[in-house]
Amino acid sequence: MHTPIDFQGSIVSDAASVTPIVQAAMSRTESARLSEVMASLVTHVHAFLRETQLTDDEYEHALDFIRRVGLACNDKHNEVVLLADVLGFSTLVKVLNNSLHLESTGGALLGPFYRGGSPHYEAGASLDQQGIADPVLFVSGKVLDTSGRPIQHAKLDVWQASPVGLYENQDPEQPDMNLRGNFFTDETGAFDFRTVRPAGYPVPTDGPVGDLLRAQMRHPYRPAHLHFVVIAQGHDTLISQIFADDAEYLNSDVVFGVTRELIGKFERHEAGSGPHPAHPQPYFTLHCEFVLAQGVATQPTPPIK
Ligand code: BEZ
Ligand code: FE
Repeated sequence: MHTPIDFQGSIVSDAASVTPIVQAAMSRTESARLSEVMASLVTHVHAFLRETQLTDDEYEHALDFIRRVGLACNDKHNEVVLLADVLGFSTLVKVLNNSLHLESTGGALLGPFYRGGSPHYEAGASLDQQGIADPVLFVSGKVLDTSGRPIQHAKLDVWQASPVGLYENQDPEQPDMNLRGNFFTDETGAFDFRTVRPAGYPVPTDGPVGDLLRAQMRHPYRPAHLHFVVIAQGHDTLISQIFADDAEYLNSDVVFGVTRELIGKFERHEAGSGPHPAHPQPYFTLHCEFVLAQGVATQPTPPIK
């Protein structure tokens, strides 16, 4: 049985009285972590409201903005994730959590375009269902533990934008699940696949997040990249991205995802040369190593279906 809250103690006298009254109202929260997080949230948001002296109009506008962010979401689009990304929240959470595992590869934000259930491919297969030849990218790499030992049967879930900068779910020209797929590492921890070089792209700007970017005079572009989720038993799941070293916007990613460690060498080769001499056109190669910390493998929740 809960004892009733003493409402005498909840009567507001002035601005300063509001915060301790709200904290007291939340004080019976059973979960220690929820209690800690909510107490801190209320402390900081109340301090923000005092510091900015938010007006009634501004407050209404802010609540309506959040309402519009929610309304812009559906099975195929996640404006909430997009908002968190352009405000640097997602990157900050990643960097804070990375700093707990300095010996493993750094993570990057998941973004709003991760879908579960991508097709499984054998080593060497192509993610590009349309057979776009220009320019082909051969990706190879290894998944290792923090002692440098190969991790066999690690699952790499990969997704990327097309050479025109669109994910398949945004583009009626692309087949379902195009440029998405998963692979397993072999007994040496190695993986390889081929794809087409992704282009940089603007994040969606037709919703409230676009209004915010325009009001802040910010461009909406991300530098060209590939997304990876690397999952292996007994290891923390790695959610990351690899950026093209020659990409535009590397220095001004709209969602702040770039770290030096995550810039990959996209090496250009002439037809007939390099590690794939039989390839008839000029092509690129990318080699990446992912180091996983010991831990518990988890599956990220897809923001869209
Ligand atoms: C992405 O990389 O897919 C992405 C990340 C944040 C916002 C929009 C797209
Ligand atoms: Fe992306």
